[in-house]
Amino acid sequence: MRSTTSLDVGTNMFPCLFQPGRIGSLALRNRIVMPPMGTWYATDSGAVSQKHIDHYSERARGGVAMIIVETTTVDTGLGVPPYGLLRIDSDRYVMGHSELVEAVHSYGAKIALQLNHPGAWVIEPPPPGHQPVGPSPAQGLLFCGSLLSRDVRELTVEEIQGLVESFGVAAFRARRAGYDAVEIHGAHVYLIAHFLFKSMNKREDKYGGSVENRTRFAVEIIRRIKGDASLEAMPVIFRLNGEETVPGGYTLEEGQAIARLIEEAGADALHVSIGTGNESEGIGQTVSPMSFPQGYLLPHAEAIKSAVKIPVIAVGAFREPEFVESTLRSGKADFIALGRQLLADPEWVKKAAEGRMEDIRKCTSCNYCGSTIERGMITPVRCAINPSLGRERQFRIEPAAKLKNVMIVGGGPAGMEVARVAAVRGHRVSLYEKGQELGVGQLRLTWIAPGKEKMKWLHDFLTTQISKLNVEVFLNSNVDAEAVKAANPDVLIVATGSRPTVPPIPGVDGRNVVTAHDVLAGRVTIEGQKVAVLGQFSTGAETVDFLAERGNTVTIVARSSAECLAQYNGPLLGARVERILRLQRNESVTVLNGWDVKEISEGEVVIVSEEGDEQTLPVDTVVLARGVTPVAELAEQLQGEVAEVYVIGDVCEPRDIASVIYEGALVGSRI
Ligand SMILES: Cc1cc2nc3c(=O)[nH]c(=O)nc-3n(C[C@H](O)[C@H](O)[C@H](O)COP(=O)(O)OP(=O)(O)OC[C@H]3O[C@@H](n4cnc5c(N)ncnc54)[C@H](O)[C@@H]3O)c2cc1C
Ligand SMILES: Cc1cc2nc3c(=O)[nH]c(=O)nc-3n(C[C@H](O)[C@H](O)[C@H](O)COP(=O)(O)O)c2cc1C
Ligand code: SF4
Repeated sequence: MRSTTSLDVGTNMFPCLFQPGRIGSLALRNRIVMPPMGTWYATDSGAVSQKHIDHYSERARGGVAMIIVETTTVDTGLGVPPYGLLRIDSDRYVMGHSELVEAVHSYGAKIALQLNHPGAWVIEPPPPGHQPVGPSPAQGLLFCGSLLSRDVRELTVEEIQGLVESFGVAAFRARRAGYDAVEIHGAHVYLIAHFLFKSMNKREDKYGGSVENRTRFAVEIIRRIKGDASLEAMPVIFRLNGEETVPGGYTLEEGQAIARLIEEAGADALHVSIGTGNESEGIGQTVSPMSFPQGYLLPHAEAIKSAVKIPVIAVGAFREPEFVESTLRSGKADFIALGRQLLADPEWVKKAAEGRMEDIRKCTSCNYCGSTIERGMITPVRCAINPSLGRERQFRIEPAAKLKNVMIVGGGPAGMEVARVAAVRGHRVSLYEKGQELGVGQLRLTWIAPGKEKMKWLHDFLTTQISKLNVEVFLNSNVDAEAVKAANPDVLIVATGSRPTVPPIPGVDGRNVVTAHDVLAGRVTIEGQKVAVLGQFSTGAETVDFLAERGNTVTIVARSSAECLAQYNGPLLGARVERILRLQRNESVTVLNGWDVKEISEGEVVIVSEEGDEQTLPVDTVVLARGVTPVAELAEQLQGEVAEVYVIGDVCEPRDIASVIYEGALVGSRI
């Protein structure tokens, strides 16, 4: 009789997830697909880099059935891929791709390449002589706020047919490189989607007007690839938006009609996404903000699936194996694409198979990874909670050469991450926290504001890992220099974080003044009051949202301008834009930009404008959200007292989760 292995636990628990599947002739080992995600890891010339090979190999090793490699440009004569993205418009790229394919295959996963043409999408200013192209002329197209295309030129019929050929040749190169399938990118805001979009395709020839005409370009590409005998019936996946979520755009019903035409053309699977590049369009966001529920695009996948017979891949904030299993069991989709989740944890499938759900580092949808695109910056993709993304080699956790006694002061995310990594490497780790629990500093404040509940997942992951590892935790332990000397560790790590800044305003020590931290931590309760919140950035905005929900009338008094806030928040896909929009719509919230507080007294605050005008606001409570200051006393006292000392996290300089987790992982892997 065979004994039950750890692998059986999850495979028994999630029979639909671990059931082998098929896309055309391609056999897949389970139902999890990695969707294409531009990494900006390509070489200067657009070739596959070692970073790509490490990145995708790690996900293949983690058990995913198929990887769809990121957007890859098929033709640069009429469209320019931004620096850092892949190309396959010349034979010289084939070698790099074949090395990538070989690496992924060695871990038993299949691999497809996403073929794309950027169309009107170009980072401004376009390279000299380049004019963005589309189905119809257009002016001032917006993409995520910062990437625009001005003056789009209409493609001629000959050019369209040339591009169909470019897709065919690109598929041939992909086949030569060994790819198992190709995905045609007909979603989001690129050329094929421009043809499908009613808002962008104003042509009056056979490529414009009816659904059939707008889908013709896509259909011709699929037929070109499926009709090419040298491609040996290579499976073709087509990615489309379920609907065009702008006023007057194509409806889900029309999306179904497009899907049927794509199926008739010979596609082997459909991958249902969404997004027109307008981030204020609610559900129509390709990359969802934190507040969106798991599987928020399922109604689209389900509707498309009901219209066709070929398999449908669903995407959109899938995070938990239980949810994936119930989705597959319900028959709403045949495969599930885990995007950011596989950036945050490449071993998701393996952990699910072993029933180790508590070890999954669940993606919080913070969209730090997407921020490179949002801000128009060309920097490699990074994950806020998984420092090894894009640095797979550097952050591979190896056993320590010499085991040491490691003392960590501060149980925030920085302290917990360094404790986790050091303990995995075999060090003897002691973690001291002055509060009653780990994460009681700022981490527990990050998930209090409306829409930020997923931040608790990070806390749960870190505290669970600490509890499973050989880390001795000392709670209610306010460590001072004497305690460190008495413990006499080989290595001391100071991760004491930061505390709210108290500005020197007359009356700031009054009974009616509290900090945003007090409010969010529940140390004070404010309901039905007139409140002035001093500061408008992240903590300020979150506290205002929290207070407005509790029936308070809130005035934000901010020294900085409204433009400064817009710039700070950027044209973000994430939770912040959503919050700003909500606050702007909320009648109980007033924002006073360019005003400072001169004096606080019982029942009122005196504010002064940049021009020197004064006003008195009647307020019950004043909430300070003027940033944080490092808790640096211990680090300063211990200068030169312990041989090996590291200072990490907000105590160095107040920043964010991404920075402090990175520092924790870095120090943990070096000591
Ligand atoms: C309201 C709010 C929302 C936020 N939201 C986000 C967000 O969405 N995304 C993001 O990236 N960042 C966010 N941040 C910032 C983020 O929380 C911090 O950058 C991060 O927590 C810093 O981690 P840290 O471990 O360095 O310090 P902390 O989280 O401050 O932890 C330090 C710990 O050290 C303990 N400590 C201090 N002195 C001692 C001592 N002498 N002995 C023992 N223990 C001690 C403290 O009790 C505390 O638990 C937010 C911050 C706030 C306030
Ligand atoms: C950093 C990043 C890059 C992306 N690049 C692409 C891309 O190249 N092609 C594409 O079709 N979608 C791209 N997407 C969208 C993802 O494929 C996926 O649809 C989206 O992240 C939603 O899935 P998730 O919630 O599981 O992350 C990208 C998303 C992110 C976060
Ligand atoms: S950066 Fe944030 S959204 Fe992106 S993968 Fe990591 S946790 Fe998820």
